[in-house]
Amino acid sequence: MIPIKDKEGIARMREVCAIAATVLDSLKPLVRPGVTTMDLEEAGRAEIARLGARSACYGYQHGSRRYPAHTCISVNEEVVHGIPSFKRVLREGDIVSLDIVLEYNGYIGDNAVTVPVAAVAPAIEKLLRVTREALGIGVRAAQVGNRIGDISSAVQAHVEGNGFSVVRDMVGHGVGVAMHEPPEIPNFGKRGSGDKIRPGMTLAIEPMVNLGGYATLTLPDGWTVVSADRSPSAHFEHTVLTTEKGPEILTIPGLVPARTA
Ligand code: MF3
Ligand code: CO
Repeated sequence: MIPIKDKEGIARMREVCAIAATVLDSLKPLVRPGVTTMDLEEAGRAEIARLGARSACYGYQHGSRRYPAHTCISVNEEVVHGIPSFKRVLREGDIVSLDIVLEYNGYIGDNAVTVPVAAVAPAIEKLLRVTREALGIGVRAAQVGNRIGDISSAVQAHVEGNGFSVVRDMVGHGVGVAMHEPPEIPNFGKRGSGDKIRPGMTLAIEPMVNLGGYATLTLPDGWTVVSADRSPSAHFEHTVLTTEKGPEILTIPGLVPARTA
């Protein structure tokens, strides 16, 4: 069963998502050559604390491991769940995926973006553009009366039509009182398949797109997912509320006034 948020739940989702978007937005201008991914983690941790929220990633348990940072920062061939490090220095031409998942007042908001470090190669610029567009196209497909597979197939068609591949080992998801709620939202699939979209669903739509093949593997650190062929990978994500009037993106900075803790 896909959870349907009531008025109260929707109000809280709006709030946490606005905070998650504010944190993500604050990190983007810090991305430049010479900065380490731990610098971004430190800035993210401070901004999360300033806004009175909590990272849903820090201490997140997967098997016997707990995620050790407040942000996920994935560089180049890293798809998702990169662990910030003092040793990872950003260089011109890199791309960096920033993924921020926060809890505030018992609700969770999830968003991600991939940003270039200074100038990047034209093929990588296209990778970022197509992945960002795929997110927009996926969001637009999240209409009441459609099915989850309509989101999946729309994303897949745009990505593959541009010569890239969609990661299949990880999927988008419902989000709310838990980081991962039903439904799963693959970035590949058939139109007309899956659950019906009803009003009051909060969905994390998140195309993960590889320049090369779709296969991925997890590094020995137990978290970092990389493309198997080590080709660059991009990730854009919004949390979206489904309504009778159409999908509403909740993870836009400035939707709700920021409070200082
Ligand atoms: N957005 C990521 C996800 O949905 C966040 C994971 S937090 C981590 O899987 F702890 F697993 F890194
Ligand atoms: Co997510």
